[in-house]
Amino acid sequence: MMVHIRELEHSEANYVESISELHKRAFPDFFLTKLGVSFLRTLYRCYLENEDSGIIIAEEKGKIVGFIAYSYDYPNFYKSLIKEHLLEFALCSLKAAVIHPSFTKRILRAFKKSESVIKEEPYVELASICVDPRAEGKGYGSMLINYIKAKVNFNKYAYINLETDAENNKNVNIFYIKNGFQIERTFTTAEGRKMNEYRYLPGGSC
Ligand SMILES: CC(C)(COP(=O)(O)OP(=O)(O)OC[C@H]1O[C@@H](n2cnc3c(N)ncnc32)[C@H](O)[C@@H]1OP(=O)(O)O)[C@@H](O)C(=O)NCCC(=O)NCCS
Repeated sequence: MMVHIRELEHSEANYVESISELHKRAFPDFFLTKLGVSFLRTLYRCYLENEDSGIIIAEEKGKIVGFIAYSYDYPNFYKSLIKEHLLEFALCSLKAAVIHPSFTKRILRAFKKSESVIKEEPYVELASICVDPRAEGKGYGSMLINYIKAKVNFNKYAYINLETDAENNKNVNIFYIKNGFQIERTFTTAEGRKMNEYRYLPGGSC
């Protein structure tokens, strides 16, 4: 079966709905999913509209079976979320914040992330990757990774960076290592989540 990997145009906002639904299926118990599909829609629309960010999709028979959301300037992406979309996000997450009051603090912390993601050198953040659970293990995730590796100008950007859970997430950690990422550090978030930060450097050994 033919799968086609391509970059979404900034104008292809009609894809945001299926991307958000795919996120919901691939990350059923994750915080962002709990904030609701309208929150996800707003977030992925921002990735699409932001001039330094984007979305790469894996498409099969006109259906999205996987995607990557990335940013060439993650600190500024976060800043733009606060500056231009704070009210929109607040409205989207209102219901979830009422049901789970602890979410409010966590959302605010997430929005303040712009400073903590500043690094010495320009880099590309692989903010989110997922493949439809029904299509896992067919190589689509690796194809998406290969596409972003080929797209990035490593003369301008030092590496591709990403964060993933260090615990109860063995398959995903193996997936990144198999795709040439190297562990940079392990840290614990304010919520007590142990995370691994990975980097892909062209020509780096793994
Ligand atoms: C992680 C994810 C993107 C991988 O996509 P995929 O298309 O299934 O991955 P691939 O088929 O390209 O797999 C490549 C390698 O990763 C590993 N891997 C991927 N999924 C695996 C699984 N479910 N079990 C074991 N190993 C797995 C294997 O080592 C595989 O190599 P192999 O084919 O030689 O065995 C996908 O499983 C997913 O969307 N998971 C849920 C969302 C998520 O956790 N995303 C990462 C957030 S940081």
